[in-house]
Amino acid sequence: MPSPALTTFIALATACARRHADPADCVLALAPLMLALIEHADTFLEPQHYRGDPQHYARNLVHDAPEHGLSLYALVWLPGQWTPVHDHGSWGVVGVLEGVLEERSYVRLSADRSADTGIELVRGGVILLGQHAVTSFVPNPDHIHITGVPAERARAVSLHLYGGVMNSFNTYDVAAGTRRRIELAHNES
Ligand SMILES: [Fe+2]
Repeated sequence: MPSPALTTFIALATACARRHADPADCVLALAPLMLALIEHADTFLEPQHYRGDPQHYARNLVHDAPEHGLSLYALVWLPGQWTPVHDHGSWGVVGVLEGVLEERSYVRLSADRSADTGIELVRGGVILLGQHAVTSFVPNPDHIHITGVPAERARAVSLHLYGGVMNSFNTYDVAAGTRRRIELAHNES
């Protein structure tokens, strides 16, 4: 039996994605819906969505709607687990269910967004996202960051809605000034 909270969220997200050509309008509309959704997470998340992986942060699929250009994941971050430096190439909305998720941003100084080499990045600010925090991003300008949980902090769990099927993202080698597209694995539930 599908959760009414999740069904309503996906329906509204689908309508938003269809209605708004501008990703900034999508995330503006969806951020408060994500805030409401995380209040009802216990009505649709199952134990498998909370599975961690000792090797790397876990991406557990909650809802996949490629026909509508949407995908929703529960990410489980064990202490000390981080993403590489990356951007998504899509818009997205993130809500924190448990723990404190840390996001460290990077700012690109080099002007050419299309280049895969000669990329000059400097470290920017840090954001600590506690339980019930909602954040979002749009693809242009690229939202370049690392996300994770320091080793001394407890596990974090977060919900991630992406505009598009999140099977790959851009990762950056900051020292080399390069970018490449990598495929991402996730757990089907
Ligand atoms: Fe990210």
